[in-house]
Amino acid sequence: MVASTPDMSPQALAALLYFYAESGVGELCEDAAIDRFDQSAKILQSRNQSRPQPGAGAPAAAGQNPARNAPPATRPGLKAAPPPVAPAPQASQLTIPGAAAFEDARALAASANSIAELREALNGFTGCNLRHSAKTMVFADGNPEADVMFIGEAPGREEDLQGTPFVGRAGQLLDRMLGAIGLSRETAYITNMIPWRPPGNRTPAPHEIELCRPFIERHVTLAAPKIVVMLGNVASKSLLGTDKGILSLRGTWMEYTAGEMLIPALPTMHPAYLLRNPAQKRLVWADLLSLQERMEQLNSG
Ligand code: URA
Repeated sequence: MVASTPDMSPQALAALLYFYAESGVGELCEDAAIDRFDQSAKILQSRNQSRPQPGAGAPAAAGQNPARNAPPATRPGLKAAPPPVAPAPQASQLTIPGAAAFEDARALAASANSIAELREALNGFTGCNLRHSAKTMVFADGNPEADVMFIGEAPGREEDLQGTPFVGRAGQLLDRMLGAIGLSRETAYITNMIPWRPPGNRTPAPHEIELCRPFIERHVTLAAPKIVVMLGNVASKSLLGTDKGILSLRGTWMEYTAGEMLIPALPTMHPAYLLRNPAQKRLVWADLLSLQERMEQLNSG
């Protein structure tokens, strides 16, 4: 993003920054680093080129203001020309991780033998670009020993600030959904596919999901829940390895393979989607009742 704030009052600048923060812009920086030394050298060079050479051009007539012949940027009362805008980043400048980053993710995740080790391994993983724009790593919340593990998409703004999954508006709805079937953060374990907030809450890119996949897979294996609930499209499609959308997946029990285990898995709608489409809550309610029944069966059998 090229941020330019010429002649803005402090109030207008504050309103602009507030707007950016509300829109999810966490960092005011360019997509690609700007070489300011190179920029200054070019400005200086173009000024020197447009400056009349000694002896060149007609001498100033008597009474004529010599400043008129000065290069535009040095005329009194005129502002310097704005510096050239940095060129848009080329595709080749975008941070697409190489094969080594995927290999690193797999090796780090596999080396973790406990949830605490996995958190540490993830913390040491530098291959995912999202960690550089996020403020915190959002690992998990709730009870890692719980029978049921909920997997969302990625942290949003509140989660990024607090370092805890599902604490914003969608999280408050998730808490109400859990409460409706007698669950809470003491009896459920909650995490996300991606532990870092994507800038502006955008949907994680496929390569970001793939980079984080070994960690979430290992996370499920280490937590070994009796049931996994996938919240929304990203978690459902990528963990179940299907192209089907959540509207056709939801409410159907599937199996998720975690290491040697086959775990019953239920895809359902994401609470953020329900905030935008409250009429769909009745479908999720049916899914929650199905979950409750399955948990009762597990615990009575
Ligand atoms: N949405 C998610 O998928 N996860 C969170 O933690 C918050 C919002």
